[in-house]
Amino acid sequence: MTQLLYIETFGCQMNERDSEIMAQLLGEHAYLRTDQPEQADVVVVNTCSIRGKAAHKAYSCFGRYRKLKAKNPHLILAVTGCVAQQDGAALLERMPYIDIVMGPQSIYALPSLVAAARRDKKPQVATDLSANFVIPPFLPSLAEGPAHKRFITIMQGCDNFCTYCVVPYTRGREISRSLADILAEATHLVSQGVKEITLIGQNVNSYGQKGAHKQSQGFPALLRAVAAIAGLQRLRFTTSHPKDLSEDLMRCFVEIPSLCPHFHLPVQSGSNAILHRMNRRYTIESYLDKVVRLREYRPDIALTTDIIVGFPGETDDDFAATMQILETVHYQGSYSFKYSDRPNAKAADFPDKVAEEIKSERLARLQTRQEEISLLLKQAEIGKAVEVMVEGASKAPGNQWSGRTGTNQIVNFSCEAKLAPGQLLMVKIEDACQNSLRGKMI
Ligand code: SAH
Ligand code: SF4
Ligand code: F3S
Repeated sequence: MTQLLYIETFGCQMNERDSEIMAQLLGEHAYLRTDQPEQADVVVVNTCSIRGKAAHKAYSCFGRYRKLKAKNPHLILAVTGCVAQQDGAALLERMPYIDIVMGPQSIYALPSLVAAARRDKKPQVATDLSANFVIPPFLPSLAEGPAHKRFITIMQGCDNFCTYCVVPYTRGREISRSLADILAEATHLVSQGVKEITLIGQNVNSYGQKGAHKQSQGFPALLRAVAAIAGLQRLRFTTSHPKDLSEDLMRCFVEIPSLCPHFHLPVQSGSNAILHRMNRRYTIESYLDKVVRLREYRPDIALTTDIIVGFPGETDDDFAATMQILETVHYQGSYSFKYSDRPNAKAADFPDKVAEEIKSERLARLQTRQEEISLLLKQAEIGKAVEVMVEGASKAPGNQWSGRTGTNQIVNFSCEAKLAPGQLLMVKIEDACQNSLRGKMI
């Protein structure tokens, strides 16, 4: 009998992809996805714990599902992702109505955990994190996601232990997938009509260095192999750690035509003292040197970044150094956050915590300046012809279609013809708004 599955996903692309995998796995057991939690037989909440606020969001939604469970005792409520891994069985003490608590490495066991929860009528906990974990092989019957672009997870976990970050504790040790398995997945997706693939992991440029599938050729070799699949039009990746950005990877932006000219390179802070205390293992000079070299290889490359303001001990001068980085690099966009204490993360015990008002004030200044720079860079595109991949119908008034440039900018454009997602075409840029470009198909 067909049953219904509802999944709520918080957090990063790793979680988004994990949610797809869970839907695929339950799909094999005759579950269909619904967007109505009231109708679901199984609800999965895939949580994120990166900042206090993210974890709080997850906790507040469990309350909503508790009410659903009161109405429908048959409902199985499963919690996965980074909050589940972090809090484990303790979640059940606070919320005994949860049926399954499972960490990111245990998502593959979802069907058997659901069966066990129904059979035994008691909560199931699966939060082992093994350094010897092997990501199960890709099953072609289990593809799920949008038709023209997909994520492929190439590694799990993180070994970098940045002092503010919870990920090494929630996702465990860094483990790479085998090249053959990634290629099988990519080849299958392209044969199904997928035009764009994004390779994802917490630190993709150290791919191939850890786990059972350790190999001498690293991330650039993987990029070249995936790019060689006939029919793949765009290749992207995220996220990279600046310390692992090699000359060979930079060269890929010249050698691989389908590799999109966009690099997300989280800087976190412009101050060496702060970078050191964050355990980032690069200096701002070496970071900027890599930016210069990347742009020598690929002058049109768009850079985006992540920044934390108010890390413990951040002085006005440290923050000024971060503001200066915006001027030096001119990021197309940045994701910026107020520092937040996380369980197990070392910085939680660091002295000299920055006051909340100061963090808020610094964040507002940084975001205001970034918005100005982002708009200026967009305005510089006016008059240019750019290649756009169609995403679908546009929500912007007066424009029928929406798509993305290789640099990952949204373009809303007019074109009378009927277009299909994944189609590549040229658009002349006529106007720039804060979050998107506008133009006309040529
Ligand atoms: N592995 C990726 C992404 C990590 S999480 C990377 O290293 O770039 C995404 C971003 O969240 C980080 O880059 C960082 O800017 C931010 N972040 C992580 N932990 C945080 C914390 N405790 N407080 C505030 N921001 C945090
Ligand atoms: Fe967290 Fe640092 Fe790993 Fe990124 S590289 S996931 S910020 S520990
Ligand atoms: Fe959040 Fe875990 Fe991703 S903490 S950002 S869901 S790795």
